[in-house]
Formats: sequence, C-alpha cells, structure tokens
Amino acid sequence: MTIGQDGDWAIEARGLVKRFDGFTAVDGVDIRVPRGAIYGILGPNGAGKTTTLRMLLGIIDPDAGMRRVLGHERPTDVARRIGYLPEERGLYPAMKTTEAIAFLAALRGVPLKTGRARARELLEEHGLGYAADRQIRQLSKGMAQQVQLLGTLVHQPELVVFDEPFSGLDALNQGKLEKMIRALAQGGTTVIFSTHVIAHAERLCDQVAIIAGGKVPFAGLVDDARDRLRPQVRLETRARDGAWRAALPADARGEGAFWHFTLPESGVEPLLRALIEGDAGILSLSIERPGLHDAFVAIAGEAAARALEENASGQEKAA
Ligand SMILES: Nc1ncnc2c1ncn2[C@@H]1O[C@H](COP(=O)(O)OP(=O)(O)OP(=O)(O)O)[C@@H](O)[C@H]1O
Ligand SMILES: [Mg+2]
Repeated sequence: MTIGQDGDWAIEARGLVKRFDGFTAVDGVDIRVPRGAIYGILGPNGAGKTTTLRMLLGIIDPDAGMRRVLGHERPTDVARRIGYLPEERGLYPAMKTTEAIAFLAALRGVPLKTGRARARELLEEHGLGYAADRQIRQLSKGMAQQVQLLGTLVHQPELVVFDEPFSGLDALNQGKLEKMIRALAQGGTTVIFSTHVIAHAERLCDQVAIIAGGKVPFAGLVDDARDRLRPQVRLETRARDGAWRAALPADARGEGAFWHFTLPESGVEPLLRALIEGDAGILSLSIERPGLHDAFVAIAGEAAARALEENASGQEKAA
C-alpha cells in the first residue's frame, strides 16, 4: 500500500483549539494521518495529546478548527469504523473476559453472538485463551489492559486510536503490542497512538506529531525530525595539542585526547584533512546521527519554553 498519497487521509485536522475555563490546552493543532500509516503523537505530560485525540474522535468538540475522520466531518458518524483505547482504562469487573470484549463489540454494532466468537478467537490468538472465562476482576492490571485492547479490535476497525497503549505493560507485552500494531498496519488499518516513550514511536511510526504546550512544533517523517539536529562527532587523537586543534568547531568540548562536537556544516572531509595535515593522529572517530529521542527533547523543549514565554507576556499584557 502506498502511504500518504495526497488527499487520502484517515484523519485530517486543521487549527484545532480547545480551551478549559480560559486555559488553552490545545492551541491550533494541524494533523494529517495518511491511510494505512502508523502515526505517533508524542508529547510530555499535559502537552494536549489526550485532548487532541478526544477532539479527533468527537468525544469533545473543538472551540475552533476542523477535523475530518475517514472522510467525515462528524467523527461520531464513523464511530463503528474506529477502535479506541482511552487513557482511563476500565471494564466492568464482574463481566467475564469474553463478555467484556463482546460487549465492546456490541457498542460498535457487532451482534453479541459474533462478538463472543471473535472474542474467543482474539484471546486465543493473543495468548489469553486461558483467561476467556475469568472475570475481569480476576485479571492482573496488564492482562485487563490487553483485554481492553482486544476489545478495540473486535469489530475490525479501519482506524484505531490508542491513548498511551504501552503504559502498564511489561517489556514482553510491550514488544507484543508493537508486533500487533505492525500487523494491523500491514492489514491496511490506520493506527494512531500517543506516547511519551519515544523508543516505541521510533521503532513503529511512519510519521509523528510532536505536541508541546498545546502546539505542534513538528509533524512529519521520523527521519525529518531527526534531521533537525546535526550529527555528533566523537574523536580520539594521539596528539594532545597542535595546530589541528584550530580545525575543531567552536562547540568542541574535550579532555586530553577525547573530543565531542557537532559535525560542522562543511561536513567531515575538511575536518579530516585538517586533522591529518595537523598530525593529530586519529585513534577513533565516530559520527552519530541523533535519534528521535534527542530530536524530541530539543523540539519539545524549545516549544515548551516558547509557550511559557508567550504565556508570561500574555499575562503581563493582561495585568
Ligand atoms: N476536562 C478538563 N478540564 C480542565 N483542564 C483540562 C481538562 N482536560 C485536560 N485539561 C488540561 O489540558 C492540558 C492538556 O491535557 P491532556 O490530558 O490533553 O495532556 P496529555 O498530553 O494527554 O498529558 P499526559 O501525558 O499526562 O496524558 C493539561 O494542562 C490539562 O490539565
Ligand atoms: Mg494523556
């Protein structure tokens, strides 16, 4: 499947704004999720991820902006084609696992009998067959969360929205969930999920939106986010001093023969030439491309600082 053909969006949102009692939680968010993509919403606590997802699903209405979900302007019209794992987990404790899943399916228009049969299949397939007849209250927290996750898939949605799906799962089950998300996308389902654990997004996502202070300072390919930061060089030299030191960029920090700096815009060749001609004696040199984690910290940090500044100047004006 070709991802991201123009105009073929599972979700398209422009200028979404949400205020709570005068506090602007989401401040002009644009998001476009290509059909069939795995899309990550990354942001620190309180950034506006959950509020954005709730607006996309039509659980709450934006104060400004538009959203189109699976081609519809009212997301509730397509609720049966969407699976949703909310941030606050909860199933009826007295229900049996199979019934809980069938119940969620029924809410999305699947007859109970079909829902039960699919629930058993799903539980088997995901290694939870042994818990099919247990009550929800008899499950561990992580198991209950897995059951709820299966409940978001039982009606075979075209689009799934997971709010912090990895939180509360052990490392093994986090890995299983990553696999499940990949399998969903391979089957043509669009997956959008929020997280503050960047590693999951880095492994899974075709595209990400970084949210900080209610704004989106970056949306696009993971690679493009990483390219916002320059590669980092680590260098070890035999010589401790010499003319070659002048070739190191201004931000070079070092001790003795170990140096760490940002790769200059001019690239690695002029640097190498200067080191060789200056008899630095290169013992080791590595060029490392920053990962999504570093890019996230830089982009979100800058945006959060800007939001604080804007808030402060707004308050000054108001005073
Ligand atoms: N119903 C509400 N009433 C008032 N303020 C709210 C409400 N919902 C969210 N907020 C505020 O909006 C901001 C964004 O909250 P949101 O839940 O969207 O953040 P988040 O990015 O999902 O954070 P987390 O990673 O902690 O889940 C926060 O400052 C929060 O206090
Ligand atoms: Mg949240």
